[in-house]
Amino acid sequence: MQTLRGANVDDADTAPEERSYVGKAPGSQKPIERTFRGQPPLIPHSVEGFPAITLERNGCLFCHGPQSYKTAKAPKAGDSHLKDLDGNALTEVAPGRNNCTTCHVPQADATPLVNNTFRGAVDPKKK
Ligand code: HEC
Ligand code: HEC
Repeated sequence: MQTLRGANVDDADTAPEERSYVGKAPGSQKPIERTFRGQPPLIPHSVEGFPAITLERNGCLFCHGPQSYKTAKAPKAGDSHLKDLDGNALTEVAPGRNNCTTCHVPQADATPLVNNTFRGAVDPKKK
């Protein structure tokens, strides 16, 4: 019988196969359908070679920031990102949202270990 981890329990662990993220440069992808209300949308484009997010610099905001999204022809960061903890409007993305990839993740083409029949049920227009 084939085990899920592909090895006996008492075998030494081997590192999983490295998979690269899918998606081409931003600008040519369709958004990935959301599967539950309140889900942070998945990143449909490649993030390969993007500079790391630091306190001083956030490359994601070059395209998704409230000042830049129009010229970059990118979706604007969620409205909820432009509020402080008390709900007051901000002109910049709230500092608590700086680390975008805590919530938004790129995708790898990986086959699920176990088949399942899960189907998302969100009307994309209602998000
Ligand atoms: C060069 C501009 C650019 C950069 C840099 C960029 N994006 Fe994007 N992003 C886009 C565009 C354009 C789209 C629309 C889909 C497409 O065309 O690929 C998009 C789509 C998305 C979406 C999907 C939104 C939705 O409603 O489904 C998310 C989430 C996202 N980007 C997050 C990020 C994060 C996080 C980073 C930083 C790691 C980042 N992006 C960097 C331009 C950019
Ligand atoms: C704490 C989790 C979290 C962080 C951190 C975060 N986001 Fe989001 N983001 C969400 C959720 C949840 C949504 C969908 C609902 C909403 O708009 O609030 C969203 C929506 C978006 C959308 C789609 C907006 C739309 O109207 O369809 C974009 C683009 C986006 N975020 C970009 C970013 C970028 C860029 C950063 C970093 C500067 C970031 N987010 C940081 C949770 C997060």
